[in-house]
Amino acid sequence: MTSFIPPLHEKSPHLPFGDQQDSAFYGRDIISVNQFDRGQLNYIFDVAHEMYEMVARVGSFDLLKGKILASLFYEPSTRTSSSFTSAMERLGGSVIPINNVSYSSVTKGESLPDTIRTLEAYADVIVLRHPEVGSSALAARYAQKPIINAGDGIGEHPTQALLDLFTIQEELGQVDGLTITMMGDLKYGRTVHSLARLLTLYDIRLNYVAPEILQMPAGIKEEVEAKGIKQASYEDLIPVLPETDVLYVTRVQKERFEDPSKHEELKGSYVISTETMKAAKDRMIVMHPLPRVWEIDMGVDEDPRAAYFRQMEYGLYIRMALLAMVLGKA
Ligand code: ASP
Ligand code: CP
Repeated sequence: MTSFIPPLHEKSPHLPFGDQQDSAFYGRDIISVNQFDRGQLNYIFDVAHEMYEMVARVGSFDLLKGKILASLFYEPSTRTSSSFTSAMERLGGSVIPINNVSYSSVTKGESLPDTIRTLEAYADVIVLRHPEVGSSALAARYAQKPIINAGDGIGEHPTQALLDLFTIQEELGQVDGLTITMMGDLKYGRTVHSLARLLTLYDIRLNYVAPEILQMPAGIKEEVEAKGIKQASYEDLIPVLPETDVLYVTRVQKERFEDPSKHEELKGSYVISTETMKAAKDRMIVMHPLPRVWEIDMGVDEDPRAAYFRQMEYGLYIRMALLAMVLGKA
């Protein structure tokens, strides 16, 4: 008897798993979203779709049997670290978890390059989260093995942007033609920095809703502008909510504030409630990279347009796809 697996959005063409060491991704680092083109994104999404189907059908399989992931986190994480671990283990591989560097030799003063050189002696791929912008690029200069950027300070979070785009595609069926409104801490939020850049590969409109001091950095706006994407900044959600197809809410990044009183001032502004959702389209989605603190009331969770928990699950399939690809197996 064949089991029924509900489609995520539409069935992907069959992609045989096996050695693909001539693929564009084999042995590559994943540092910034700027390294992808649309063809590559479609390929990643097709593989992620296959991963979803395989997980639904068999749970785990041995595509990466014998491969080892070093998971190196200098900053807190729940989703990124656990989903990479789950992805590796569902593919039959194993993980060296360093989720709290204070228990590693980093505390003794070991540099990032030396830590990377050590871990690549034991592992086949390294996932790195670090508070400094450019840390993954630095690690990649020292490593022979692939480095995957899991967040470099306020810089980028490319695997999050890939899963965000996959979510939009799966939930709304397309990306072209959509109006995407990013709200919250656009200054320090690395997820929106990556996502805004990645979206420039599509025909979309971008709205930024944030208080003046947390607006999207000028440099990113210039990059977006150079790609011919229409963008507009607001301090209030009300004028743009009715036209919004994707509302991407973010947490105020408390840990990035030099002056904690500024964070306190902003706390409580920009909260999405069931009342707010009355002005939104029937067919739209609310996303959030998570963790959520106070930006979205829990009452909104029951709304079918609330996609943030589904979004986090899509991350597993995207990360399975990326691991298989950089290790030459998809
Ligand atoms: N988890 C995401 C990040 O690490 C978003 C957040 O922390 O607010 O960037
Ligand atoms: N979205 C995200 O990166 O979550 P974590 O910080 O929990 O990994």
